[in-house]
Amino acid sequence: MKLLVTGGAGFIGSAFIRLVLGDPTVQILNVDKLTYAGNLDNLRSVENNPQYAFVRADVADRAAMRDAFEHHRPETVVHFAAESHVDRSILNPQPVFDTNLAGTFTLLETARAFGVARFVHVSTDEVYGSIETPLEADEAYPLKPSSPYSASKAGSDLLALSYFTTYRFPVVVTRASNNYGPYQFPEKLLPLMISNALQDRPLPVYGDGQQIRDWLYVDDHCRAILAVLGGGRDGQIYNIGGSRSLANLDVIGAILSATGKPESLIQHVGDRPGHDRRYALSSRKIMSELQWAPLVDFEDGLRRTIRWYQDNEPWLEHLRTGEYQRYYAENYGNR
Ligand code: NAD
Ligand code: TYD
Repeated sequence: MKLLVTGGAGFIGSAFIRLVLGDPTVQILNVDKLTYAGNLDNLRSVENNPQYAFVRADVADRAAMRDAFEHHRPETVVHFAAESHVDRSILNPQPVFDTNLAGTFTLLETARAFGVARFVHVSTDEVYGSIETPLEADEAYPLKPSSPYSASKAGSDLLALSYFTTYRFPVVVTRASNNYGPYQFPEKLLPLMISNALQDRPLPVYGDGQQIRDWLYVDDHCRAILAVLGGGRDGQIYNIGGSRSLANLDVIGAILSATGKPESLIQHVGDRPGHDRRYALSSRKIMSELQWAPLVDFEDGLRRTIRWYQDNEPWLEHLRTGEYQRYYAENYGNR
């Protein structure tokens, strides 16, 4: 199978590439712009694999996408590339619009022109907005995104699905809950709290810290995407949840006890504007149709993740220097 992956130098995309390269019949082209969040160090273990190739390009660049498709002739596409962080999307929504909306449009157009047989659009549970207890969002739940990030993902989901309705283009949309695991950029809750705790730095908790997220280990997410790639139905949406709902302060408490650090590191800070209180997903559809289930429980996943950050201090150090800093400063100012 010839597969084109976008955003493969990021957190989930790189885990997906490492997983898929276990299949000797797959040829992957990874198309990534290498923003602050894209890091080729995430792919060191596969960079010399003859089944893998990389091109640095922006998914919103029509000519570059045409070149990539012409060169690789993919049968399938898995689209991870995105500006993926809510706080950054609040600070500066422009790159969010450019990549998540305009970029997805350009990629869909190119894939359609080249007659791709399967296009997986990787999305998020955040498109459903905050969910009242005890409800869970299934795939038919109304969309009510709160942030520029989640609104851009909801828009790109709808655009992708319209390509099925209008052109019969074989799109499938996945909506996963909060991922965690190795190689996650330390701007999201888990890696930020783990790396700060390991360095005895304060842990900034937004508001009262009682917001609820459903945690999914990244490898479980990647197995789900692979299942959808192989067996999902065209024009369908598949929720992918971790079946583990926790309040942020409980996650932070677990990190403090696993790292042996004191609760005094916790620092309550101002709340995020438009902060969603609770995410909760029903994953019944993917479980029954594709026999997928999460395999890594939160305690085990957290242990593995903390160990990885402890063992990979140079990876974290690299992020504090280098090109991402320039991009970060240009796009988000010096925070
Ligand atoms: P990430 O921020 O770690 O990586 C994003 C990657 O996309 C980076 O490698 C970056 O360089 C690349 N990229 C950004 N703009 C690009 C552009 N214009 N052209 C080409 N490449 C570009 O993100 P992630 O956490 O790995 O998320 C991947 C996907 O999964 C996103 O679509 C995100 O919305 C979705 N998702 C993430 C989570 C989560 O918890 N992280 C949960 C559900 C869904
Ligand atoms: P995040 O990892 O940014 O994911 P998302 O907002 O997309 O769910 O945040 C997860 C939760 O953690 C969210 O409720 C916001 C909260 N949070 C903090 O309290 N402090 C922080 O420094 C960060 C990054 C997040």
